[in-house]
Amino acid sequence: MNFALETLNVLVMSIYYTLEALIQLFVTLRRKSVAGEIVLITGAGSGIGRLMALEFASMGATLVLWDISQDGNKETVRLVKGKGATSVHPYICDCSNKAEVYTVADQVKREVGDVTILINNAGIVTGRKFMDAPDSLIEKSMEVNSNAHFWTYKAFLPAMIANNHGHLVSIASSAGLIGVNGLADYCASKFAAVGFAESVALELQATKKHGVKTTIVCPFFINTGMFDGINTKWPLLMPILEPDYVAKKIIHAIQTDQVYLYMPRSLYLIIALKNILPTKMGLLLGDYLGAFNFMDAFRGHGKKD
Ligand SMILES: NC(=O)c1ccc[n+]([C@@H]2O[C@H](COP(=O)([O-])OP(=O)(O)OC[C@H]3O[C@@H](n4cnc5c(N)ncnc54)[C@H](O)[C@@H]3O)[C@@H](O)[C@H]2O)c1
Repeated sequence: MNFALETLNVLVMSIYYTLEALIQLFVTLRRKSVAGEIVLITGAGSGIGRLMALEFASMGATLVLWDISQDGNKETVRLVKGKGATSVHPYICDCSNKAEVYTVADQVKREVGDVTILINNAGIVTGRKFMDAPDSLIEKSMEVNSNAHFWTYKAFLPAMIANNHGHLVSIASSAGLIGVNGLADYCASKFAAVGFAESVALELQATKKHGVKTTIVCPFFINTGMFDGINTKWPLLMPILEPDYVAKKIIHAIQTDQVYLYMPRSLYLIIALKNILPTKMGLLLGDYLGAFNFMDAFRGHGKKD
């Protein structure tokens, strides 16, 4: 170990990586092919899960679609087949149930093969103030939004490591980066999902399994129905995202091995500011951005007018 040499190396490489990142902002990155990959999407029966499946449909990948909803999954199968997917394997799986995840995962390995792109997307939201949320819903949020990720990794990561080939995708949320008034259990589950995915990514780096890629996705609210009724104060700065746009950006991130994807772009700045501003200024900014009132008129899937 030589302090001067190592420090010089870090300085030079930091400049190199910064320039590389700047250049990548302006050039079209080469997309890796997903033809022949076995893509598992949890929560494929609606919303972003279904739209990601539709994006993959014409790319020559084998699709393994998991959802707790048989009707939702059936409809996704119909739609992806209509878009050209030839190898589609739907499974009913309650991702909140560890034993069921392991059982269905074994079935997938036997019937389809080793999953090479795993997209943990299934998610739920309680949408109540913490003290009003029943214990059962708080536990369910943790089980679906974060614990399920442990069990799917345990089931599918060993083959990826053995083959030094694969991609782990975590559909987390901006609520996994910053707390939100009225979303305490959801934020806890999404912070857990981000911390887990980031840590396993580092484990893979440390063991030099560079063939297993990772992507963590943190979107602001998306117009899928999951957060029906929520409001954004400044839509130009923090727009409610269109589901098609989000699905396309996620597929692009996977195909270009992007490690973090935050949407909208203003989120990168907001998270950076959260970490450097004095606390009172952060609260002032949060209030200005309407962060204390996002959930005031929340209806979600369950409570349509
Ligand atoms: N909609 C948003 O505003 C938003 C914002 C940021 C992140 N996200 C995240 O994106 C992901 C997709 O959300 P969406 O907006 O498409 O929601 P959605 O409600 O349309 O889709 C979620 C899917 O997960 C399935 N699911 C729920 N519980 C399950 C379980 N126990 N086992 C298996 N499947 C289950 C549902 O049946 C549904 O098909 C979620 O993880 C969500 O937390 C959503």
